[in-house]
Amino acid sequence: MTDETICHCMDVSRSTIEAAIREKGLTTVEQIQEETSAGTGCGGCIPELENILKEING
Ligand code: FES
Repeated sequence: MTDETICHCMDVSRSTIEAAIREKGLTTVEQIQEETSAGTGCGGCIPELENILKEING
């Protein structure tokens, strides 16, 4: 299982983001930002956050 760092500004891993989406039923990038801080720095990882949301929520 890979656990790459998705948000380098805030050092947030893929597993942390996926767990937050699954456990809290997150549906938007804004909710990920609130729950994990991912995406609250440079914003460069936001497309990747959107991809993860799509992967999990379809
Ligand atoms: S890499 Fe996520 S906000 Fe900069």
